[in-house]
Amino acid sequence: MPDPGRRILERTSLDGKVAVVTGAARGMGAEQARSLAARGSAVLLVDVDADRGRALAAELEEHGSAVAFTPADVSDPAHWQTVRRAVLDRFGAVHVLVNNAGVVGHRRIGKISRADWQRVMDVNLKGAFLGMKTLAPDLRDAGGGSIVNVSSVAGLDQHPDPSYTASKWGLRGLTKTAAQEFGPWRIRVNSIHPGYMDTPMNDFASPELRAAKASLLPLGRPGEAWEAGELVAFLASDAAAFITGAEIAIDGGWTSGAQATEARRMH
Ligand SMILES: NC(=O)c1ccc[n+]([C@@H]2O[C@H](COP(=O)([O-])OP(=O)(O)OC[C@H]3O[C@@H](n4cnc5c(N)ncnc54)[C@H](O)[C@@H]3O)[C@@H](O)[C@H]2O)c1
Repeated sequence: MPDPGRRILERTSLDGKVAVVTGAARGMGAEQARSLAARGSAVLLVDVDADRGRALAAELEEHGSAVAFTPADVSDPAHWQTVRRAVLDRFGAVHVLVNNAGVVGHRRIGKISRADWQRVMDVNLKGAFLGMKTLAPDLRDAGGGSIVNVSSVAGLDQHPDPSYTASKWGLRGLTKTAAQEFGPWRIRVNSIHPGYMDTPMNDFASPELRAAKASLLPLGRPGEAWEAGELVAFLASDAAAFITGAEIAIDGGWTSGAQATEARRMH
């Protein structure tokens, strides 16, 4: 009789799966790729940063994972055709798509240019739309799969930059539409909402700003990139078989309420 504990653990395995991760050259995308590969998935890394992307692919391959890199800008439909060809030619199928690539702006409504607004929307929102439009039929043909859209706590409340807020709210909504459309194809679609994470995206912040942000969190520290990687690997796996259309915060308690922060200050 098969060991039931082992069967349960096998649900988190990604053996035989193939994943595409965008924005995979550094930060959370790189850790998502590591977590997926560690569970047995082949991974196609996609990024505009070819040097870092190639270096990470080489490192993971050295450790025995089936990993390749394709340079692409997720906001360009033609680049998605290149990504599609690359994953099918190299690995023969695709089961998992992680729309992680993102950029952030730092200008408020009164100061942001239309070009800056458009760039953030094109990468963060249109990029994920194009990724799903291009690859969902291939996930269907592979027997189903999982799409994870990396939104933000900015998609649950707000960020000072309006394009970032709008793009991340848009991605949260787009996830629901995709979950409805692709559910009959056995494709699950979820959004994750990281809070303040320690990645190169936040390199601009001064030590004072970092400390102030951390002090707002019940856990009192920024998240680490690998923590988002583990959530993505879970959502990609059969252990998450009944989760679709969900929005999952990974934020150290950021969105759990200002009153809680206030209460902590009183102690
Ligand atoms: N760091 C945070 O605190 C935080 C919080 C919430 C959500 N997020 C989101 O998580 C995702 C990953 O963020 P991160 O902190 O790892 O960022 P990061 O800046 O460290 O890495 C982003 C990666 O995306 C790539 N990229 C940017 N534009 C691209 C494009 N057009 N096409 C392909 N690749 C592109 C970059 O080259 C880079 O490798 C983003 O969507 C971001 O908005 C980050």
